[in-house]
Amino acid sequence: MSLVTSSSHEEDLFDSVKLPCSRMLPNRLVKVAMYEHLAPFGGGPPNRRHFSLYSTWAASEWGMVITGNVQVSSSHLSLGRDIVVPDKIDSATMEPFRKLACIVHGADGRTEPNKTLAIVQLSHAGRQSPNIIGGRSLFAQPKAASAVRVGSARDAGFLGEAFHRLLFQTPQEMTPDDIDALVDRFTQGARLAFESGFDGIQLHAAHGYLLAGFLSEQANVRTDDYSATAANSLHLLHRLVGSIRAIVPDTFVIGMKINSSDYIDITAGQDEVKKFQQEQRALGHLKTIWSWGLVDFIEVSGGTYEKPDFMSGNARQAFFSIFSKKAVELFQNPAECPGISAPLILLTGGIRTAAQCHEIVQNKRADLLGFARLATLCPQLPTVLRNTPADQNAPVVMEPDLSSSAAISLLPQIRLIGAGIGTAWYCVALRRLASDYQAGRKDVFLRGAPRRKGDPGFTLGALGGLFMFWVWLCL
Ligand SMILES: Cc1cc2nc3c(=O)[nH]c(=O)nc-3n(C[C@H](O)[C@H](O)[C@H](O)COP(=O)(O)O)c2cc1C
Repeated sequence: MSLVTSSSHEEDLFDSVKLPCSRMLPNRLVKVAMYEHLAPFGGGPPNRRHFSLYSTWAASEWGMVITGNVQVSSSHLSLGRDIVVPDKIDSATMEPFRKLACIVHGADGRTEPNKTLAIVQLSHAGRQSPNIIGGRSLFAQPKAASAVRVGSARDAGFLGEAFHRLLFQTPQEMTPDDIDALVDRFTQGARLAFESGFDGIQLHAAHGYLLAGFLSEQANVRTDDYSATAANSLHLLHRLVGSIRAIVPDTFVIGMKINSSDYIDITAGQDEVKKFQQEQRALGHLKTIWSWGLVDFIEVSGGTYEKPDFMSGNARQAFFSIFSKKAVELFQNPAECPGISAPLILLTGGIRTAAQCHEIVQNKRADLLGFARLATLCPQLPTVLRNTPADQNAPVVMEPDLSSSAAISLLPQIRLIGAGIGTAWYCVALRRLASDYQAGRKDVFLRGAPRRKGDPGFTLGALGGLFMFWVWLCL
């Protein structure tokens, strides 16, 4: 096993990798954040179902495991059963988090550089926190960067507009006091992660949630120090990272998840000039974040609830790899930020074959590779990839086809519904992983997953997944 940093020239999927804070990942494979749908309705701490679920990932050697979004505000949940940072942090409230961190680290007492790093994703759903299941009373407004409702930036058609209005309120613009309280809550979340034995946190600033909203010129129309102008758009993230760094050791990992180039203007469509400007703005943000010298990795994703690209279906290539390659190139030029170690780039979305994984690493499209849906279908992916030829072009496991059923085609063709169906199906699959583990099954693949074309498909279809998701939401 060779050791590399982001600037080394030897590249292998199974190299151990060093973060700027000097912590080591045993390899480049990352199980990225997935909302589990396993906490009590209204949000709460991790429980035995989470422990079983994370044990399935601990059975293989992941470089890093990131939890599903852990909300810093119990009145801004994503889908109702989120893990939440408790109001009061003491040994009792910390205990379930401590247990979760231990599970991710594995029972076999591995030490760095062979130990999986355990990371908590901290999030606030902002204006995308839906009515009722978001944790507020009926029609209470969520808080966000500005009073701009989800769906108001683009023409989603009559049905799309009605759907968005049904789900989301026009948010209240956060006051400076709200922002101060928010910084405190994120910092509390990081303290909880550190004191309960996690190796780091990731700030969720992608997919249109609160922190992404502050970066977006559509969602953020403020005119104060937190506006979306070039000078101010990173102000909140900088405050958060600074406040967190001040209470954790230098070796505590701080990561971020941000959208690639689409978060500035979702209306850009095919306008090449606008797209180029967006990309330059996004790369400018990366350079500024690098200049802080406080961040260890940046996950590149894309999309919002209005345009949920991060949940796209089968793709022939990783979704955001063109942008991530440019980010890696930027970070490999030390003249841009002399004397400051660059964050590593984690690319997530659409990576499905062994050949893709090796190509991404060898062609320096990213330093780390993130998996969500594949990590559900194949929780022991690192073990499988080690035993798969590097040029294997067939998917590691077949994905469910969630769009083809006749019943689904009757639903309104709104992209958020498509993404919701995907999320629901995978949440049900995560629950199956947890209950199978509890029942003593520790399979490499999700039970019932077809391994190759022609194998019998999943018994659970798109509508079945949606139904089970709502049943478990209400139970
Ligand atoms: C069930 C499910 C839950 C998700 N929850 C989160 C989340 O909590 N935080 C987050 O940043 N992304 C979340 N995502 C998005 C994934 O992290 C990832 O960006 C996306 O699925 C694309 O990666 P993939 O093609 O490997 O699945 C979720 C995805 C799924 C399928």
